[in-house]
Amino acid sequence: MTYEPVLTPHRSIRAFRAAPLPSGMLERLVAEAQRAPTDATAQMYSFVRVADVERRARIAALSGEQEHVRTAAEFLVVCADVHRLARLLELHGRALGAFPATGLHFATVDATLAAQRLIDAAESVGLGTVCIGGILNGVEELVELLALPRGVLPLFGLCLGWPAEEPVRRPRVAIGSVLHTDRYGEQTPAAAAADVSAMAAITRSGDWPSVLARYFAVGGTMEEREPALRRVLERQGFAWR
Ligand SMILES: Cc1cc2nc3c(=O)[nH]c(=O)nc-3n(C[C@H](O)[C@H](O)[C@H](O)COP(=O)(O)O)c2cc1C
Repeated sequence: MTYEPVLTPHRSIRAFRAAPLPSGMLERLVAEAQRAPTDATAQMYSFVRVADVERRARIAALSGEQEHVRTAAEFLVVCADVHRLARLLELHGRALGAFPATGLHFATVDATLAAQRLIDAAESVGLGTVCIGGILNGVEELVELLALPRGVLPLFGLCLGWPAEEPVRRPRVAIGSVLHTDRYGEQTPAAAAADVSAMAAITRSGDWPSVLARYFAVGGTMEEREPALRRVLERQGFAWR
């Protein structure tokens, strides 16, 4: 028996036609995103739509001058959101408990599941999408710019628009690298080498480990980002000691 998924093949799109979404389409896609499963019924996420051109340009700049943030028909900031829940409890005479780590976990999982469903729905009607983690390069300014209250944490941006490019499907590591049975299986050097060679095509240089190191090794860009994110976690009520 063969099984063929019916999902539209995903590929990130970074070049968009200058055409808007038809009226009501974004709301329809968000309604579909809301069908995502949600832990304890809480729906701890919000999407902030950035329609204002100047605001969008500022976010493109602080995300590392990513032109597609400017040119996409729609741009959403996907947020973990414990604030709405706290307000609802407050309106019912109850105070939100002290669980910043659990709140971060719940809200990040909820937001990510909903955003992935939004991506799937968008791609199923022919739209292109790309997530924008680059917003974390200016996360403190972004919190100000979008007036995010305590309890709301921006996770990533999401560009949506009509594709003006058709990129090849980009590689992934082997299924065996991500699927474990019964207990976690350490990757063999040979399997790691096979992944490195499979992933070469996603880089300009052909050297995937160097790309990963630029982001994640000692002295990489993630270490640079870390202090600002910690400050924002503290400020938005997601930090603990
Ligand atoms: C959380 C997240 C953040 C990302 N941030 C960016 C980004 O800032 N800019 C960008 O051009 N692509 C970004 N991407 C897209 C990835 O580069 C892309 O998904 C990956 O290279 C695989 O390519 P594919 O989506 O075409 O299969 C991001 C993806 C995710 C999931």
